[in-house]
Amino acid sequence: MKFFIDTANLDQIKEANELGILDGVTTNPSLMAKEGVKGEAAVMNHYKTICEMVDGDISAEVISTDFKGIVEEGKKLAAIHPNIVVKVPMIKDGVKAIKWFKDNGIRTNCTLVFSAGQAILAAKAGATYLSPFIGRIDDSNWDGIDLIAQVAHIYSVQGFKTEILAASIRSSIHIVKCAEAGADVCTCPLPSILGLLNHPLTDIGLAKFLEDAKKTQ
Ligand code: G3P
Repeated sequence: MKFFIDTANLDQIKEANELGILDGVTTNPSLMAKEGVKGEAAVMNHYKTICEMVDGDISAEVISTDFKGIVEEGKKLAAIHPNIVVKVPMIKDGVKAIKWFKDNGIRTNCTLVFSAGQAILAAKAGATYLSPFIGRIDDSNWDGIDLIAQVAHIYSVQGFKTEILAASIRSSIHIVKCAEAGADVCTCPLPSILGLLNHPLTDIGLAKFLEDAKKTQ
């Protein structure tokens, strides 16, 4: 399973990248706004900086909602760097644009996915990645992990090549459950990634080893 970080914060991207386990970055307009990135030029420049920091796929989201606008915006984003993946919302014109991007050699990440039906449509259109928002599904009293497992099953029996990119991850256990359910990628906030390190027995065991090591000095 690939690990992406879900943020536009450059310090967090740097920290995750330095761990050596980062395969890419996802962003969205909310995450860009959170970092105070304002204006088209600044947004494009921010994506370029991220591409220069991380050698992996970088999702950059369109804000147009009509076919022509999505295509024009996507072409501009894709021109920033070869690693850019154009993030397109799961709407009718989005599906149409994903097919256009596929036919024109531009990779896509279909975002705001909440059902298996949407997952099938995105795969049929030729999306490179599919982003089910598992935390938001959990918020609505459904089980986000069940959706990952269902889509993994469908893609496997149908031979779809679209990669399942589990998004809206809220905890370290979400990452473990996504790996178990068959996600190809997890895009996570930094604390969820770092949380995977934690186990009290590791801390106790290390303290004991270091204590005993003093006896051998
Ligand atoms: O990758 C999608 C993600 O940024 C949304 O997360 O926590 O706002 O549901 P959240």
